[in-house]
Amino acid sequence: MQQTTPIHELTAEHRVIEKAAALMEKMADELAAGSGVDGSDLQDLVQFLRVYADELHHGKEEAILFPALEAKGVPQTGCPLGGLVAEHHKGRTLVDELIKTSSAYEENAASARADLITSLRSLRELYNSHIWKEDNLLFPLAERLLAGDDAERVKKQFLEVDERIGADRIRKLAGFADRLDRHAGS
Ligand SMILES: [Fe+2]
Repeated sequence: MQQTTPIHELTAEHRVIEKAAALMEKMADELAAGSGVDGSDLQDLVQFLRVYADELHHGKEEAILFPALEAKGVPQTGCPLGGLVAEHHKGRTLVDELIKTSSAYEENAASARADLITSLRSLRELYNSHIWKEDNLLFPLAERLLAGDDAERVKKQFLEVDERIGADRIRKLAGFADRLDRHAGS
């Protein structure tokens, strides 16, 4: 049986984040077509992006995986690590922007609609291209460089992040895209 590596764990998280990205596109399309979106759905989305995508997933990458790769000689700046960290920062700025446009939308849907659509689409584009780079460029490199004890150490540190955030909270956040998807389709 093939052993699970820490990279498999990050890859599985990417599949969950992609669901949220698809949902952001769907929300943007619905807004563009003149439909409304629920304020509570937007709040759940922000929560997912802050905790699951950023604290949990980007946290594992920035605080654990990237330093482990640097220890193997991958440069901290430039391509790929410097570029990926810069995209994490950009993601945080765009989530802050989404928080502003969401609350403006709740106050006045008509005047904030266009800005909310831009926020949702910018985040969707960033996540999709960022995930593609990690899946296709960074993760194959990481699988090659981290084996044996190094991989075990990274896995253990990932588990500490999971425990800090809480398994139940992670499960609920991961289920959010499915829930909203059903809601939107009903
Ligand atoms: Fe990632």
